[in-house]
Order: sequence, then C-alpha cells, then structure tokens
Amino acid sequence: MKQMIARGAESVIYKIERWGLPFVLKWRQDKPYLLKEIDSQLRKLRTSRECKMLTISRALGVPTPAVYSVDLENYTILMDFITGVQFKKLAAQLSRTDLISNCHGFGKLIALLHEGNVVHGDPTTSNVIVDEKSRLWVVDFGLSEMNATIEMKGVDLHLIHRALETTHWDIQEDMLNATLEGYVDILKDAAEPIITRMSEIRERGRYH
Ligand SMILES: Nc1ncnc2c1ncn2[C@@H]1O[C@H](COP(=O)(O)OP(=O)(O)O)[C@@H](O)[C@H]1O
Ligand SMILES: [Mg+2]
Repeated sequence: MKQMIARGAESVIYKIERWGLPFVLKWRQDKPYLLKEIDSQLRKLRTSRECKMLTISRALGVPTPAVYSVDLENYTILMDFITGVQFKKLAAQLSRTDLISNCHGFGKLIALLHEGNVVHGDPTTSNVIVDEKSRLWVVDFGLSEMNATIEMKGVDLHLIHRALETTHWDIQEDMLNATLEGYVDILKDAAEPIITRMSEIRERGRYH
C-alpha cells in the first residue's frame, strides 16, 4: 500500500504501511530545470540534512517524526506517520482560544530550536501538524541549520511573520503576537535581540 498524501514544490509524501503500522516516505523528486549534477547534490544534501535535523530537533524537545531509514541514492526518508491536520488548514476552523494556544505552542517550539542554536529554515504553518491530542509536531527540516547566529534566528522569525501575513491575513496579528509570546516564554531576555533583528530584517526588505 502506497498512498500519496502531499506533493510540494520539491517532494512527494507517501503514506505506506509496514508491519501493520503507518509510515511516511518522503521522496525528493528531481527538478528538470536544474543541471543533473547540481540537482542530485541538492537533493542529497537536503535529504541528509533533514534526516539529521529531525533527530537533533527532537533532542532539543521539539516533537518531530522519528526517522527509520534514509536512502541517499533515491533521496528518500522513512519516518513515523503523524496522525493529525496541518496547522495551516486547521487555523481557520479553530476558536480564538485554541488558535492562540496553538500559536503560543508553535512559538515555544521555535524557541527551543533557537535555544539549541538551530534554525528551522521554513517555519510556516504548513510545516506544523496538530495531532488528536492537540500536540504540535514540526516537519520539513531540509533547510534547517545548526550553529545559528542572531541574524539566522531573526530570519526564521521574519519568515514566520511573512508566512502569517500571506496565509492567515485576517488573523495574522493575533497569531504573530501569540507566537512571539510563546517564544519569549522560553527564551526570556535572550529573545529581545532576535525579535529586534526580525523587525530590522523586515525594514530592510521594505526599502531595498
Ligand atoms: N511524518 C509525517 N506524518 C504526517 N504527515 C506528514 C509527515 N511529513 C509530512 N507530512 C505532510 O506532508 C506535507 C508536506 O511535507 P513536507 O515535509 O513539508 O514537504 P515539502 O518539502 O514538500 O513541503 C506536510 O505539510 C504535512 O502535511
Ligand atoms: Mg513543507
């Protein structure tokens, strides 16, 4: 059994069954417009990076699917299937209280990554899954990086801000505030220079 559950710009997500249990097989497909060697190197890099960062992030306290195997010749990762709904799809249906509490939780998870000097690289609401117990899971670590600087963390926050204003335009302000509150809850005073940097990056984008 192999069922396609999502198809993004760079990968296809299959739900497969093994030993009577559900798993996800993430396959990075080729990009026909890229030179073959470059394409292959990029897919290999992102696949191995995602695999490594899923595990590192879990060690920092961020729920991520456990990885069972990685195949760098075929650009695939076999991981746990998380039963739930994309936060992006759920956001519009949630009550204000639940929405705020989920954003708060999202901000805390991003802060745990940043506390461990990891940036996610693509921190949007489509890369967060909310399970039946309202627990948040983070996926899609192909652009994630270690040894992150304040600038890199500021970019991560800026990407959240930008994603919220393009995807959740009617509720973006509440969502951003709640996310930043969760972020500060974890990082305390250390959050301040990063949030300042987020605003600076936003200003730079406006005038250049
Ligand atoms: N382990 C998983 N369990 C359940 N759903 C997943 C899992 N991994 C990804 N998905 C779903 O597939 C979508 C695309 O996966 P993602 O890793 O974000 O790939 P892409 O790089 O194409 O965005 C996610 O937004 C999520 O809804
Ligand atoms: Mg994604």
